[in-house]
Amino acid sequence: MNRLSRREFLRIAASIGAVAAFACGIDANAREATGRAIKSKLRWNEKRELFPEGVASGDPQADSVLLWTRRPAGDAKSDVRLTCELAEDAAFEHVVATAVANVTAAADWTCRVLVGGLQPAREYWYRFTDADGNGSRVGRTVTAPADDDARAVRFAFVSCQNVNDGAQNAYRRMIFEDRKAKAEDRLGFVLHLGDFIYELVWYPEERAEMYDRKIRDIVRYSPGEKHEDFHIPTTVDDYRAVYKAYLHDPDLQDARAHFPFVAMWDNHEFSWLGWQSLQQFDDKTFPAQRRKVAANQAWFEFQPARIRKPSKGLERFDGPTVVDAPIETFDAHGFGTEPNNVAAVNSLTGYRALRYGRHVDLIVTDQHSYRSQDPTAQLEAGTFESKDFPHLFDEPAQRMLDAGRSANGGNPPAALRFGDKDVPNRAKDAPPQTILGVTQKAWFLERLKTSRATWKVWGSTSGTLDTRADPQNLPAEITPRWPGTGYAGMGSGDVSAAYVERAEIYDFIARNRISGFATVAGDRHSFWAGLAAKDLPPQPFAPVGVAFITGSISAPGLVESLEHKLPKQHPLRPLFLADRDGRTDAAINLLLRHGVRTCFEYARSGDIARAKALSNPQNAPHVAFVDMGGHGYSVVRASAERFDVEFVCIPRPIERSASDDGGPLRYRVVHRAKLWAPGETPALEREVIEGNVDLST
Ligand SMILES: [Fe+2]
Repeated sequence: MNRLSRREFLRIAASIGAVAAFACGIDANAREATGRAIKSKLRWNEKRELFPEGVASGDPQADSVLLWTRRPAGDAKSDVRLTCELAEDAAFEHVVATAVANVTAAADWTCRVLVGGLQPAREYWYRFTDADGNGSRVGRTVTAPADDDARAVRFAFVSCQNVNDGAQNAYRRMIFEDRKAKAEDRLGFVLHLGDFIYELVWYPEERAEMYDRKIRDIVRYSPGEKHEDFHIPTTVDDYRAVYKAYLHDPDLQDARAHFPFVAMWDNHEFSWLGWQSLQQFDDKTFPAQRRKVAANQAWFEFQPARIRKPSKGLERFDGPTVVDAPIETFDAHGFGTEPNNVAAVNSLTGYRALRYGRHVDLIVTDQHSYRSQDPTAQLEAGTFESKDFPHLFDEPAQRMLDAGRSANGGNPPAALRFGDKDVPNRAKDAPPQTILGVTQKAWFLERLKTSRATWKVWGSTSGTLDTRADPQNLPAEITPRWPGTGYAGMGSGDVSAAYVERAEIYDFIARNRISGFATVAGDRHSFWAGLAAKDLPPQPFAPVGVAFITGSISAPGLVESLEHKLPKQHPLRPLFLADRDGRTDAAINLLLRHGVRTCFEYARSGDIARAKALSNPQNAPHVAFVDMGGHGYSVVRASAERFDVEFVCIPRPIERSASDDGGPLRYRVVHRAKLWAPGETPALEREVIEGNVDLST
């Protein structure tokens, strides 16, 4: 080890619950280390069926990486002893590290090995073998470049894969392109921003279809719990079962064997509308501390990551014993002080930062465990929306509710006006909404301030760009009139609607003259490129960075749901869907960028140039590109001069593609930002590489 002592390395491995392995006494700076590598002496017969979830690697650093597999024992009650080997070649002629790890029923037979003493920025291969010579498939991984490595960094970011109703063709495409890329263009890792699983599952005999898709039979919870027409996990075995079901998807499993992943949970790894250790179903909130610990345990067992857990076990989670006690008192930041809530949330700490060469500090945050309640969650349906205006929520009310008692400089109004109603301001005594929570936010800001990398990349599991429309500008013939006083937002619960906290972060960036701030986000099931700004017109518009959101790998997006749910005769249908020449276009993309007048003109004439001439430049100066119907993945290339993000968009992934390339592309588009100096305003340029970006610009 060059930077860490052996002892320190052992301590780190133990803190993340991994067995430690060293690359045969190698000094990570010495190239001749390969001379010490030896040919594998193991009798290894690949038996994939004994390692049914494959292999994975996670959180690569310049000198170390985590390796993972699962080897269930079948009928055997006793532990299984696995040998993990990491080599410089796929034939294992040059093995540089070996470790022995026990896998046990207590961790559902999963195994984590942290291998240290590796060379930076290089490819390795790894495999696991049991005492009888039965071997896992061979995995490939890549270490991070050294901190002073000035070469450009490339990585993919993804989110939202649904094996219950979709196909993972995006991963097949990603692997295909990586295999044929030049060495300098290959991906260093895949950043997974959550919804790795969807904990709510439909059973095909109860629901055959979801929009354009057919429901696949992937898992049965035992017993689970049924809400409406879906089932949710209630025990650690249920959560484990859904991870296993997902990892039996061949394309997802291949991606984990081909790329190191950096994973962070979003909401569905615990619960759809979950926050802290609370769940919400059927308009009620339930304490679910035991389920939060179970969700954390399964995440720990199935995701190799440099997380922190309070227990000491290397081979098992050893979570706290908690009860589902009511959570009724909250601190000044909206965090439930009930001891079981505190213990459940703290049973796994996932937020972390990873350095990747000279140019990237990746700062990944947990946006559900510490967040306060979404201030719109307890409103009676329709309070600031109207069925005449689907998906639109009064933006001034959203801002007021977000700010809570800090609204109007600490004088929140007792009631909020919407149309002819005065609605009691339920948030007037609440703290401003927080997504990060006080401790994580302090850590996050400190990381931003102290980063020496060219690009400070915020891996945000939820979208940071405002979803905004201007229903106040609807043509006069549309009745009824929008009851709000101004703009409408389309979302709550993500960073984009946590106005006070986002402003705190972006003001901090401006005040500290931090350049190279970029957010990469998931959750929204749509592709977005734009600028990171705390406010939009008529407030001053002052971007402090660039911001991107990736389309889902496979989970359905809003356009698909609108196609199935929005009535053909709805007077506002042209804002969302344009029915022209026998096809339906995603007019919502125009709405979120240009506003309502552009949508009505496009519906009337089909002339996109004429429609865009009616763009409202005040609606969304922060948006350069939006596709609410896109699926696929995104690739970052970060260099000394530029931050480029390529959206690789595939057709709706309804069925698994039979071809090696994962099927055709819809489009490939790149947005490029030149590094700006402190105080300068960032800007994006766009290049459509192939395909048709339709109404997205
Ligand atoms: Fe999702």
